[in-house]
Amino acid sequence: MNIILLGPPGAGKGTQASRLESDRGMVQLSTGDMLRAARKADTPLGAKVAAVMDSGALVSDEIVSALIDDRLAALSAEQGTIFDGYPRTAAQAESLDAILAAHGRKLGRVIELEVNEDALVERIVGRYTCVKCGAGYHDHFKQPAVSGVCDVCGSTEFKRRADDNEETVRTRMAEYRAKTVPILPLYEARGLVVRVDGMADIEQVSTQIAAILNR
Ligand code: AP5
Ligand code: MG
Repeated sequence: MNIILLGPPGAGKGTQASRLESDRGMVQLSTGDMLRAARKADTPLGAKVAAVMDSGALVSDEIVSALIDDRLAALSAEQGTIFDGYPRTAAQAESLDAILAAHGRKLGRVIELEVNEDALVERIVGRYTCVKCGAGYHDHFKQPAVSGVCDVCGSTEFKRRADDNEETVRTRMAEYRAKTVPILPLYEARGLVVRVDGMADIEQVSTQIAAILNR
């Protein structure tokens, strides 16, 4: 099964994708995570990617589609995938069709996380992750069981994303409305879109997604 998780910044794509990874052995393909890894490299491309991401704009279609193609090439055909943050433009949606076909895969579902944008700024500015293992937390919605200690690996070091400030979040949301929302009708016409209530709590959102995948 190959699915797309679609929703604006802070909708919970990464949270739900990593749960699907642990619950179902599917592979999370997050272009945001791939780009954050690329920007760490001390190369001209890394610097260019960093500047674009920090402004809240979208990185070029060619770069992200090449990242996805490379990652799919490294997977075996039996591994299910969750596209998290990709595709984000009509050109990327078109590339994804070609890439999936080239790897003998088919798109099963597009799951849209329906959310109230006003609540998302709070979600994003409160978000942080473990430096060592990448587990995600939130100041109010998802704290570690022992304060200051990662539930997964026990590390006591955490970090916040450079683009998780209110101003950049507003730009990211505007980009989502302008470039990503228009791709939904393309998938609707193919009967692939299913919507879940992304404002429910994390566990309930997972339950809704599981029900869709078990159908
Ligand atoms: P990316 O990393 O994809 O960021 P994003 O789309 O802005 O989405 P986020 O990761 O911020 O949110 P999320 O939906 O994953 O929410 P999360 O689960 O963390 O992209 C970053 C940048 O990279 C882009 O701006 C662009 O520059 C570039 N880029 C990436 N992909 C690209 C592409 N395809 N093309 C071009 N450029 C690209 O949840 C947020 C917080 O809320 C967490 O703390 C979580 O614990 C909490 N939370 C989650 N669900 C709930 C819930 N149900 N209730 C309460 N709290 C919740
Ligand atoms: Mg994410």
